[in-house]
Amino acid sequence: EKGAYPFYMLKEIDEQPAVMRRLLSEYVENEETVKIDDHILNAMKAADRLYIVAAGTSYHAGLVGKELFESLANVPTEVHVASEFGYHMPLLSEKPFFIFLSQSGETADSRQVLVKVNEMMYPSLTITNSANSTLSREATYTLLLHAGPEIAVASTKAYTAQIAVEALLAKALGTVTGQVKAIDYDVYHELTAVANAMQAMVDEKESINDLAKEFLSETRNAFYIGRGIDYDVSIEAALKLKEVSYVQTEGFASGELKHGTIALIEKGTPVVAIITDAPTASHTRGNVQEVLARGANTITISMESLANEGDQIVLPDVSDLLTPLVSIVPAQLLAYYTSLNRGYDVDKPRNLAKSVTVE
Ligand code: F6R
Repeated sequence: EKGAYPFYMLKEIDEQPAVMRRLLSEYVENEETVKIDDHILNAMKAADRLYIVAAGTSYHAGLVGKELFESLANVPTEVHVASEFGYHMPLLSEKPFFIFLSQSGETADSRQVLVKVNEMMYPSLTITNSANSTLSREATYTLLLHAGPEIAVASTKAYTAQIAVEALLAKALGTVTGQVKAIDYDVYHELTAVANAMQAMVDEKESINDLAKEFLSETRNAFYIGRGIDYDVSIEAALKLKEVSYVQTEGFASGELKHGTIALIEKGTPVVAIITDAPTASHTRGNVQEVLARGANTITISMESLANEGDQIVLPDVSDLLTPLVSIVPAQLLAYYTSLNRGYDVDKPRNLAKSVTVE
């Protein structure tokens, strides 16, 4: 029930810190050991490459998952859009392991890939919010998101739950394969810090609504820019804004802007920069200057240790691999308030259904 909330989307954004804590209690023992079925870990251990297959927001969660699996578990990982993968399958490695990310567990594009993967007899894992879904029944293994029902069409808490489960799984896998980085990674405390940082962001609702009013209430287009993990978040942030507010929004690798797309920047174009990736922060700052020089209205979302004076949204510091869990929250709120302020039905954007069961 949405109770006092005008829309489910806002309720589900608000629930995210609690979902992080629930995942810790479901998956972590004694604040330390990640409990994942040995069968899953053994099958993943035997693989030489992970293939994450998903659609939409779940695909975007997969992009962050690649960073987690490669960094903590040291296993090469590819991420693919389901509707492309099934019909244009890349050359596979010798021992592939497939991960299907799907909130609903019913997405037809993802299922058609799983059917082929099963025909080829490769092992697979579905990570889903829906225990009895088609994708969880048909995959070799399943893990649950424990996010509770997600009603709003625009996915919010399922995205962050997917990233958190990927982090837990990467920690568990890297630990059993003896990766020092995974063994040393204190995922319990890092995700607890994330839950607190998320709470700090949801508590900023009013000032984020003010930014939405000032920068996004009239515009026809907008950009999110970032590098590395912040680029992954930029694409998801752009999808959120476009699907609920109908503002044409692109998520862009900030270094690529000058190779063509900067032609679209004119006086008043909103550009939201996400800056949590320390090695590239100064480069993205440079790109912000470039768009400012062409008249853009910039909003900067930065992490505290990388923040500059004038940044409108500052996130508490969290582990560098987990910043998407926090930086996406103000972007979700910007999307929510832009839709609300324009008078749309936030939970049911036009042309969209909650689960896409046709290819
Ligand atoms: C966007 C959104 C969609 C879904 C996509 C996959 O907010 O909700 O892009 O993420 O249709 O759905 P699932 O995760 O159910 O497979």
